[in-house]
Amino acid sequence: MATKDYIIAPSILSADFARLGEEVNSVLEAGADWVHFDVMDNHYVPNLTIGPMVCQSLRDYGITAPIDVHLMVEPVDQLIQSFSKAGATYITFHPEASDDVDRSLDLIKDSGCKAGLVLNPDIPIEVLDGFLDKLDMILLMSVFPGFGGQEFIDSVLEKVTKMRSIINENSLETRLEIDGGIKLKNIKEVADAGADTFVSGSAIFGEPDYSEIIRKMRDSLKA
Ligand code: DX5
Ligand code: ZN
Repeated sequence: MATKDYIIAPSILSADFARLGEEVNSVLEAGADWVHFDVMDNHYVPNLTIGPMVCQSLRDYGITAPIDVHLMVEPVDQLIQSFSKAGATYITFHPEASDDVDRSLDLIKDSGCKAGLVLNPDIPIEVLDGFLDKLDMILLMSVFPGFGGQEFIDSVLEKVTKMRSIINENSLETRLEIDGGIKLKNIKEVADAGADTFVSGSAIFGEPDYSEIIRKMRDSLKA
């Protein structure tokens, strides 16, 4: 895969929320491609984060980069509509959080956003059977959702490899995203397994120099 096709999507969960607009600008100026926007509802996951108003605020602040909204909420349909109005680019959700996955995917597509499904580490990829042709993105979680700063679960690598073969065998355009515990030390291995879109929160926002860490990640992807 050409390195330009790799997407780095910093998770703003680890940004300084008191200065969110500035933080998002800084990380994009530092070379990030997308903004990964983690939505947690204190129901599907125990944590509580940010909603559509904050997405709209980032757009109003002048952020034009793709916003990759990862819904860790249940149910999903209402928030899909709110986030599409608030300027989301991608909207992904966990299939077990919708009572009709097809309908929720259609809602995303009909609103003009790109759609994706997210699989937790213990959910098999067979769950995606029947939905593949509707998906612009498949997000494989490499931690259990809810918190930033967790350790990458190595057994997910095998799932990434399997998913990449299915995508290639079916000549799908679907992006394969990985989320959780992505750092400079493992990004290359995950890319070699077949991921092309990398969410990274604490490993980027925890560094004093965002440009340096993103450049090192890209260099490692090129190696
Ligand atoms: C976990 C979130 C992730 C997480 C990534 O529930 O979906 O996006 O914040 O953070 P790091 O890179 O710190 O694991
Ligand atoms: Zn996420």
